[in-house]
Amino acid sequence: MKGNTMRIYSAIQPTGCITIGNYIGAVKNWIALQNDNECLFSIANEHALTVRQDPEAFRERTTSFFAQFLACGLDPEKSVLYVQSNVPEHSELQWILSCMAYVGELDRMTQFKDKSRKNEDNINAGLLTYPVLMAADILLYRADLVPVGKDQKQHLELTRDLAIRFNNRFGDTFVVPEPYIPPQGAKITSLQKPTDKMSKSDPDGKATVSIIEPRDAILKKFKCAVTDCDNSIRFDPEAKPGISNLLSIYSAFSGETVEAAVQRFDGKGYGTFKMAVGETVADALAPIRERYEQYLANKDELARLMKDGAAKAHAIAAETMKDVKAKIGFVAD
Ligand code: AMP
Ligand code: TRP
Repeated sequence: MKGNTMRIYSAIQPTGCITIGNYIGAVKNWIALQNDNECLFSIANEHALTVRQDPEAFRERTTSFFAQFLACGLDPEKSVLYVQSNVPEHSELQWILSCMAYVGELDRMTQFKDKSRKNEDNINAGLLTYPVLMAADILLYRADLVPVGKDQKQHLELTRDLAIRFNNRFGDTFVVPEPYIPPQGAKITSLQKPTDKMSKSDPDGKATVSIIEPRDAILKKFKCAVTDCDNSIRFDPEAKPGISNLLSIYSAFSGETVEAAVQRFDGKGYGTFKMAVGETVADALAPIRERYEQYLANKDELARLMKDGAAKAHAIAAETMKDVKAKIGFVAD
């Protein structure tokens, strides 16, 4: 940390589409942080390789995600925005850290167990070592703070353990990062199965809303969002997961607190409420969609921004690697 300025790092995998869950749980917070901090945000395409990718679609999605970052308001003048695979130090540090991570601590990760269950035909080694790559991402940049959704907390704990383990063995090298889990909307749930997380890769298109979705589609999805049948609008995630999720979404996009929203919709039917949530989300996302189309139409500019971001990230990462290599006893290159 330099003075009061913190170094902040986060990333998102280019799989599926950036959902309103990602936006509320991650990107929106990043935008708020970039004004007063030194931020790096990446598109974690190496992480996305743990599931099979079609090369052309994968390349295109990575570019599309980069354009969505910019359209949301992440600013390359304020933050370092880059694609993970354009900075080779990530996989370099991952190898070193993976020799210090125990299989026992990796195979008890909830996400590993979950993903193994879902991809029985492709339980590759990358699925197991995924959190080590994530630790490398963060530690390379000596980040103080890592804004993530609740589901990533366990990976952050492992990152901290690895940093401490390395520092104890080789002397002070890495900053031990703190997670930053936003208090509201840390877990936006599926519109169809409101007890499950809204997931980028959910095959049910009705369950998720992308940040670049057309207005009509957004309204339709909120109209048929699953709720309950007691017809009272209250925030109670246990008893009323569907309505509570809609309240969180409404609050995130309108800026109104959940309490104020509960009062506003008191006595109104679910139909009216769902329509209002849909319209609020559609209004908020319309300018993002418009900017996205503009960025995407200018591929040269996107390529230039990606290259520029990667060069800035590389400069920091290379310095950390020099230190790491010297400490562990690699000969000088
Ligand atoms: P992923 O979709 O797994 O690549 O996640 C990218 C970022 O978005 C991470 O910080 C996640 O914790 C966050 N995130 C993903 N899904 C949700 C969700 N449904 N609600 C809140 N945050 C989420
Ligand atoms: N694993 C994260 C996710 O699925 C994405 C990610 C990769 C990440 N590297 C990171 C998040 C570094 C924060 C910091 O959501």
